[in-house]
Amino acid sequence: MNADDIRAMIQPGQVHRDVYISDAVYRLEMRHLFTNAWVFVGHDSQTPNKGDYITTQVGDQPVIMVRHSDGEVKVLYNRCPHKGTKIAIDRAGNTGKFFRCPYHAWSFKTDGCLLAIPLKKGYEGTGLSESQNGKGMQAVGAVHNYRGFVFARLAEEGIGFDEFFGGSLSSIDNMVDRAPEGRVEISGPPLRYMHKCNWKMLVENQTDTCHPMVAHESSAGTAVKIYEQMGNPEPRPPAMQIIAPFMSPYEFFEDMGIRTWPNGHGHTGVNMSIHSNYDAIPGYFEAMVESYGEERAKAILDENRHNTVYFPNIMIKAPLTQLRNFIPLGADRTLVESYVYRLVGAPEQLTAMSAMYNRMINAPTSIVGHDDLEMYERAQEGLHAEGMQWVDIRRLHTGTEDFETEAVENGTTERQMRNQFHAWAKFMTMSMEDAPGVAAQ
Ligand code: FES
Ligand SMILES: [Fe+2]
Repeated sequence: MNADDIRAMIQPGQVHRDVYISDAVYRLEMRHLFTNAWVFVGHDSQTPNKGDYITTQVGDQPVIMVRHSDGEVKVLYNRCPHKGTKIAIDRAGNTGKFFRCPYHAWSFKTDGCLLAIPLKKGYEGTGLSESQNGKGMQAVGAVHNYRGFVFARLAEEGIGFDEFFGGSLSSIDNMVDRAPEGRVEISGPPLRYMHKCNWKMLVENQTDTCHPMVAHESSAGTAVKIYEQMGNPEPRPPAMQIIAPFMSPYEFFEDMGIRTWPNGHGHTGVNMSIHSNYDAIPGYFEAMVESYGEERAKAILDENRHNTVYFPNIMIKAPLTQLRNFIPLGADRTLVESYVYRLVGAPEQLTAMSAMYNRMINAPTSIVGHDDLEMYERAQEGLHAEGMQWVDIRRLHTGTEDFETEAVENGTTERQMRNQFHAWAKFMTMSMEDAPGVAAQ
């Protein structure tokens, strides 16, 4: 499969089914897309102290995010330069001043540099110290910490962080600005939920506004019906505030609007969203006014974006301080990690609301999330049907779309999905260009 084959899978309003079901395409995604793009690693509040680390993946690459002795967050491949042994296997921990490989005790500073090797004399004159392995653990190509959110680019050379994300960083800004102290912290471990489907189905669904009133009728629709039978009592319990807007009519989602940015990023909820009408939490607005002044506090809180997709594989919800990481494990397997952050300086009741949303919508025990899961898994199976090769993403397609410029459109457009696939082809093929027509490795 070469760059032309990849590009041919993406047509103006349709994508070939192989982008979801082919193992060869999945391997190329890991080799190219997840190497060239900036990928979310973790939040720096997960590693507050020197020596704190987490282990995770960038694409299919095992990595360690660690707080180095100089206070910076580093991202290293989780691989001993001796024989490849994973250096850390716990999801999180503190390694002290150095990492020590459990196999032959080579040790490394927390920026990866080789610290010591037992019986080092045995390597004299062997060339080890001049070799790549002799330097220590390998760092990824580039790391950027944006207001606490840590992203990595595996490739040594490539697109810069600011150019890659551009105006889309305004959604992270809004999430962090919602904290009276201007920073967020992890509130605990994420909810983890395994999905037997391709990771891109989950990413696409974040801006799919034509499914909630259909796919979630059995859960949200039932809740709304029962609440009506009760006479819609006030005040609405938080659970009803969360679930009822899922049943909003098509017109509501049309009016919400969708904004897209270059490189595959975009968000629903430009004008308002399903998060706009939650009851105020006592003391929160006052704390915001104290920090920012009334006008700025209002401007921050009036921005109620729904889902922001950061291409390739995360989504954030600024008004609920959530982040979902869609970690690809195979063409037909995706691990979803759903995080809740705490707004530093805000009432704890806000975190409780976000955590409730996370449990109700994103947990394996959710009453809503498995509606989506069933749709993804049916699609993953249905795409194997012979006789039709293409998936349709033509809704409100205008014929000429320029994905290199920011745009705001009707909230039921599938433009953001087309935007993602435009970026997908771009970052898949940019490192294949050197040898066009030659089979990619
Ligand atoms: S494999 Fe790590 S020290 Fe030998
Ligand atoms: Fe859904």
